[in-house]
Amino acid sequence: PTPAADHVHALLASYEDFPQAGILFRDLNPVFADAAAFRALIDELAGRFRGEFDAVAGIEARGFLLAAAIGYAADVAVLAVRKGGKLPGAVLSEEYDLEYGSACLELEIGQLAPGARVLVVDDVLATGGTIAATSRLVERAGYRLTGVGVVLELTELVGRTRLGDAPIHAIVAL
Ligand code: PRP
Ligand code: MG
Repeated sequence: PTPAADHVHALLASYEDFPQAGILFRDLNPVFADAAAFRALIDELAGRFRGEFDAVAGIEARGFLLAAAIGYAADVAVLAVRKGGKLPGAVLSEEYDLEYGSACLELEIGQLAPGARVLVVDDVLATGGTIAATSRLVERAGYRLTGVGVVLELTELVGRTRLGDAPIHAIVAL
């Protein structure tokens, strides 16, 4: 295991039946709240995709934390993929199903040059619906998805199979 993976295993918290019965909620905030652990996450994700992306897109909410730091570390643009109804002007929307409920994600158009290489990051890959919807937004906006980075992949939900050909890096797979 990598240094980042060791930190995740040590600090990850799990809550049964949150936010509803039958869901085992994985809380990465204790990992983000530890300076050495957070640095290790950013170093691993930025390092894995070094030189392969012109922008990093973070998915609301916890993906924002990762994208901001990766963008700074890699000196690239940062995009915010927001929950529906938050963005003004010309936006693209994608509906998706969640492990619990359904939702909509949006991206403003015209922020990057056509063909820009985008790394998508989020905290958790579960059913894959969130990242699949974000991938569609990136492609509809005229960019190229060149990588997906997450802290935690929940493998029994086989979300990976719903994603395309771009390489996926998970710091920890459970
Ligand atoms: C959680 C998590 C991922 C998503 C993964 O976010 O942060 O974004 O679910 O699930 P999926 O792979 O099944 O789509 P959530 O939608 O709960 O919202 P939040 O990030 O705003 O808390
Ligand atoms: Mg989320």
